[in-house]
Amino acid sequence: MRQFFDGIYSFFTSKRQKILGIFRVVCWLLVVFLIIAFVLSRFNQTTLFFLFGLGNTFGTFSLLAYVTTLLPGIGDRLGVKNKILVLLKIYRREVGISMYFLALIHVTLEKLLIITSVKELLTLLPFEIMGTLAILICFFLFITSNTVSMVWLKLNWYRIHRLTYIGMFFIFLHVALVKLSIWTLLMGFVLMLQLISLIVIYRRTDSFTGGRPI
Ligand code: HEM
Repeated sequence: MRQFFDGIYSFFTSKRQKILGIFRVVCWLLVVFLIIAFVLSRFNQTTLFFLFGLGNTFGTFSLLAYVTTLLPGIGDRLGVKNKILVLLKIYRREVGISMYFLALIHVTLEKLLIITSVKELLTLLPFEIMGTLAILICFFLFITSNTVSMVWLKLNWYRIHRLTYIGMFFIFLHVALVKLSIWTLLMGFVLMLQLISLIVIYRRTDSFTGGRPI
């Protein structure tokens, strides 16, 4: 088993440039898919229903990607060390960007494609309000997920990215208000782990950042 994880680790670290190239292509494919979905749904009712059904799948993948971005931080604070967490940390930015694209497609398929008026767009159910707040936060994380923003924003970059701790509550409330599902349980579990890890680090270092200035 250990050899298997070592293999994954060395593959993803040695082929980083190639993997980043594939990642960029996938992001563009998602954007193209979104445009095609939008156009096709305007012409064909069957396609519209099909895409609507697909919306939940994109939401689920977005949630899984989001959870993946939280794990390295939780692991660090709890003192858990393994190569998979290191790998997730190396690719955290790319996973976060994918999460945002997947959420964007989810919202488009679940809401934007089926509404027929501005009134419908603005009449949001409670679970949709939670989702909207979550995706707004993710938007700020997304537009600052690049090296230029990191250099320009300096310490503020870390402050902005701490918004993820608020975002995770909104995502949890979004899925919980849809229905009690495996995703509610998963988000609830990760939320608990996150809180426990923050308490642990605070008790150990007297700060939520583990003694770092920010
Ligand atoms: C970060 C943002 C979001 C994430 C990660 C997310 C994730 C999810 C997930 C995992 C589900 C499936 C829940 C289940 O099957 O139990 C879901 C359902 C849904 N989401 Fe989102 N969502 C987000 C934002 C939004 C927004 C902004 C809207 C619309 C304004 C929205 C509308 C919906 C709808 C309509 C459903 C289906 C409810 C149903 O099946 O009855 N989501 N979302």
